Amino acid sequence: MDFKSELDAIRDAGLYRRLRRMESASSRVVVVEGREMLMCASNNYLGLADEPLLQETAIEAIRQFGTGSGGSRLTTGNTALHEHLERELAEFKGTEAALLFNTGYMANLAALTTLVGSGDLILSDSLNHASLIDGARLSRADVQIYEHCNLTDLEKKLAVARGLKTSESAESAESAECISDSRIRSRKGGLYDRILIVTDGVFSMDGDIAPLPGICDLAERYGADVMVDDAHATGVLGSKGAGTADHFNCQTRVAVQMGTLSKALGAEGGYIAGSRDMVEYLINRARPFIYSTAMSPAGIGAVLAALQIVKNEPVRRSHLLVRAKRLRHQLLAADFEVLPSDTPILGIVLGEADHAVQFARELEAVGVFAPAIRPPTVPAGTSRIRLTLTASHTDADMDSIVKAFQQARTNLAEGGA
Ligand SMILES: Cc1ncc(COP(=O)(O)O)c(C=O)c1O
Repeated sequence: MDFKSELDAIRDAGLYRRLRRMESASSRVVVVEGREMLMCASNNYLGLADEPLLQETAIEAIRQFGTGSGGSRLTTGNTALHEHLERELAEFKGTEAALLFNTGYMANLAALTTLVGSGDLILSDSLNHASLIDGARLSRADVQIYEHCNLTDLEKKLAVARGLKTSESAESAESAECISDSRIRSRKGGLYDRILIVTDGVFSMDGDIAPLPGICDLAERYGADVMVDDAHATGVLGSKGAGTADHFNCQTRVAVQMGTLSKALGAEGGYIAGSRDMVEYLINRARPFIYSTAMSPAGIGAVLAALQIVKNEPVRRSHLLVRAKRLRHQLLAADFEVLPSDTPILGIVLGEADHAVQFARELEAVGVFAPAIRPPTVPAGTSRIRLTLTASHTDADMDSIVKAFQQARTNLAEGGA
C-alpha cells in the first residue's frame, strides 16, 4: 500500500495529525515539547489526574496487588479491588451493579455488541462519540441516525420502527404488548425485537447535554431502551456528580449507563452500570470483557480515591461549572462563536480545518494549549477549538484565555490582509 501518497492526501486536506509530547503530568500548567503552557483541552475536569491522594491510593494498590492483573477477569485477573470498585460505581450511579472495562471505548463496544444484535435496532444521535458508532457498526443490529438531540425526529423513527404510520397516535404505541428478558426490555410488534436509543450524555465536541427525560419518555412510549454514554458527565453533572441521569433525576429510566474513569475521575478505564442481570449477561457474553486482561490495580486504586473526592468535595464541580459559564460569557462578549452548552466543554467554531489549525498555533505561541478539532471528529466546515476547563483553572486563567483568543484573531486577520 502506498502510505506516503495517502498521507500526502491527508496533509493536502489540512487533516494531518501528529502526536504532541507532554513532558509533565496532566495539570493546569503542562510542559509541551519543552515549553510551559496553560492546559485548556484536557478532560481532567476535576483536576484529579495529578492529585496526591489518587497517587497514594494507586501506589498502595500496586503494593498490595502488583502492577499487572495477570489475566482476564474470568481466568486469574479478578481481584477484591475490582469488585470493590464495581460496588462503589454501582452505588454512585444508583444501579444494581456495574462492570469494569479497560477503557471507555471497550465498554461501549462491549455493551453494543452484546446487548443488541441482528433483528434489533439502534437509534443513535448524529453526534455520538466514535466508540458508540463503532460499537453500533459491529453489533449487527440495524442502525438509524436521528438528528442531534431532536426528539421529533427520534419519535418519527421510533414510530416507523414499531410499524406505525408517523401520524398514528402514541396511544397505539402504548397499547403494544411489552415483554421483559434478562438483558433489556423487548417488545412484540413492529419491525424489530429490541430498540436501543443510544446517546452521549454530554456531547464530547459540542458540550451540550442530551434531552434525557424526553428520550426516556419516548423510549417508554415505544417500548425501547436507553443507553447513555456519560464519559463527559461523570463527576461533573448531577447533585452527586453521578452524570446525566443524576442531573435529570432519571437514573431508574436508563437501562445502560456507560462511563469512563479516564476523564473527571483522573485515571483510565470504563464501566457499564445497570441491572444485575445485564451485568451478569455482559460477563458471560461481552467479548471485550472476556478476551482482555483485567484492568491493572493502580488505576483502580486511584479511582476509589477519586470517587471519595467527588462525594466529599462537591465544590470542585460547582466551581468548574461557574467558571465555564463565566468563560463562555467572556468569549461571547468578545464576539467568538461559542456553541451553546452548560458544561465545561466550550466549542469555538472557526470553520475550515486550516484556519482552526492556524488559530491553535497562535494560541500556542502565547502559551495556551488547545489543539484544533477537525473532521472526521467534527463535521466538515465546523473545525474548532475545543476548550475544556478543569477545577484547577483560576479566574486569571480565563482572562488569559480570552486575551489569547483575541490576539490570535488579530494576528490571523493581519496576516491574511
Ligand atoms: C463520549 C465518549 N465516549 C467514550 C469515550 C472513550 O473513553 P476512553 O477514553 O476511556 O476510552 C470518550 C473518550 O474519548 C468519549 O469522549
